[in-house]
Amino acid sequence: MNNSFDVLERVIISRRSIKPAALNGQKIGEDKIKALLELANWAPIHGFTEPWRFVVFSGDAIPRFCQRNAEMYKETTEPEKFSSAKYEKQLHNGDKASHIIAVYLKRGSNPNITMLEEICAVAAAVQNILLGAGALGIAVLWSTGGAVLLPAMEGYLGIDEEDIMIGLLYMGYTDEPAKTGKRTPIEDKIKWM
Ligand SMILES: Cc1cc2nc3c(=O)[nH]c(=O)nc-3n(C[C@H](O)[C@H](O)[C@H](O)COP(=O)(O)O)c2cc1C
Repeated sequence: MNNSFDVLERVIISRRSIKPAALNGQKIGEDKIKALLELANWAPIHGFTEPWRFVVFSGDAIPRFCQRNAEMYKETTEPEKFSSAKYEKQLHNGDKASHIIAVYLKRGSNPNITMLEEICAVAAAVQNILLGAGALGIAVLWSTGGAVLLPAMEGYLGIDEEDIMIGLLYMGYTDEPAKTGKRTPIEDKIKWM
């Protein structure tokens, strides 16, 4: 089509979710993290609410966060449903991550803007980060697993009651070969009128 479209198409289609276990421990420069958050800030919004908020963990804050995340999962899971494999996964998810970014939605005061619109805007902000990361060769997993969506996590991060968690972004670099994605044809999801 044109050069910009071709570049963007390549970035979008080659973006993949990379599990924290596939990271190699290499650190991401803070300038790159800031550049990705700047991309997030340009997501579309209704009513200029800019509802995306980020808590960035790096260095020693990562193991502390993962420990707390695992404990919250344990504390809030009924014993018969508790999985020690899941607990261990949460505990060690940050071992080779450079940064973990907690993403949440700050509910604005404009009553004309619905929660659905705000969620759409924050999801678009996350996608901006994922695409920017892909273009920079940075691996990311957007995760809602473990304790991420539990009220305990909102309490831990000091998020107000009307705000909501959108997920965690585990970020770093990987040595693993690029994976191909899996999607069913778009034609099956369109009705042309
Ligand atoms: C809102 C959201 C939450 C997700 N949570 C998890 C998760 O908790 N654990 C996980 O392994 N993947 C999670 N994923 C990643 C998806 O599993 C992944 O996007 C899907 O397998 C498609 O792979 P792709 O992103 O490489 O195309 C999540 C994705 C989204 C959009």
